[in-house]
Amino acid sequence: MRATAWLRNNPLEAGWAVFAAANWVAMVAWPSWETVPFHFVWISLTIVYGIRTWSTRTMWGVLSVVILATGASIFADAFNGTQLWGELFEVPLMSAMFLAMVWHAQRRQAALAEVQGLAEMRASLLERQERFLHDASHELRTPVTIARGHLELLRRDQPEAPELEVALDELGRMERIVERLLLLAKSEQQGFAFEEIDVDAFLSDLFIRWSEVAPRAWRLDVDLAGRLLADPEALRNALDALLENAVKYTDPGDAVELAAHADGTGGVVIEVSDSGAGIPPEALPRIFDRWARADDARTRERGGAGLGLPIVAAVARAHGGRCSVESRAGRTAFRLHLPVRGGAVAPNPTPAREGDLAGAGQGLALS
Ligand SMILES: Nc1ncnc2c1ncn2[C@@H]1O[C@H](COP(=O)(O)OP(=O)(O)O)[C@@H](O)[C@H]1O
Ligand SMILES: [Mg+2]
Repeated sequence: MRATAWLRNNPLEAGWAVFAAANWVAMVAWPSWETVPFHFVWISLTIVYGIRTWSTRTMWGVLSVVILATGASIFADAFNGTQLWGELFEVPLMSAMFLAMVWHAQRRQAALAEVQGLAEMRASLLERQERFLHDASHELRTPVTIARGHLELLRRDQPEAPELEVALDELGRMERIVERLLLLAKSEQQGFAFEEIDVDAFLSDLFIRWSEVAPRAWRLDVDLAGRLLADPEALRNALDALLENAVKYTDPGDAVELAAHADGTGGVVIEVSDSGAGIPPEALPRIFDRWARADDARTRERGGAGLGLPIVAAVARAHGGRCSVESRAGRTAFRLHLPVRGGAVAPNPTPAREGDLAGAGQGLALS
């Protein structure tokens, strides 16, 4: 029973044992030719170990049997005069060669185990970091809400107090950062709810919503039709973050465009571009990092925390895609490259739509 199970689990070893035994029989049967099967035994042993890398105990056990069996055969034949005594030296030489290979294989295995261990450690560290991010921001929510409640009560009694305005402003900033951190933690976690969305309808809806809140020269250019497998909430969060930036880093009258087209390799590119001042080239390589801000003075003035683009990048990754940026003064374009999974997109001849230049844009809370 145990032997059958062993055979089923170790067919390579079993095959090799039969092969080696047959060669040993050949060594005994044809003494003057015995160096040929002798080498077959040793070379096949080296190959099988190279593939399997047995435990040290098994390796020493098998090696001892092979040394004894092949050594005894050559010794007996040398003793009988059918083989030269010098051939006996082949046994320690082949053993040394085999052990050198064992040493290399074990070093390689130890290095692989170390790399795997480090990768696992890194993954668990990242997971703990994400969980901490989520929990910390979640815990911060309640005290911030309570503090806001108290400050608002105080403001009712002292409506003119500038200190209260400042405190409420800063609290608002903190609330937005906490919300962003929660959104980022959520975007980094698994658990996306993918469904088929109509790209054109989805982007039109988003465009209408945004073109009503900020006075920019809005333009929508969706050059494809069809359905895309995506998490609509996550995709909306990512595009909201890009459109928010396009509005935040431009001035009234500047152009902001939302566009989409097929990328020619079966994917979709959704692009948010604007005609603002752009991002300095030295800031571009790290622009998707957490807390990255291109221009601290200007960004602080506009209240950013550097958490929008990491959300965009995380959402793109979760969809199997990526986000890229191209920027120079007068044109900044962020592109979401998404592979099409489960759906199909096709070119759509719908003409581009212009938005309302004089949109309201007053009530928009930018974070
Ligand atoms: N459309 C844009 N035009 C100019 N700068 C941009 C644009 N989008 C992003 N940036 C720069 O990238 C930085 C990071 O963006 P983001 O992660 O959304 O954080 P923030 O909360 O500061 O907007 C911003 O602070 C800004 O300096
Ligand atoms: Mg932003």
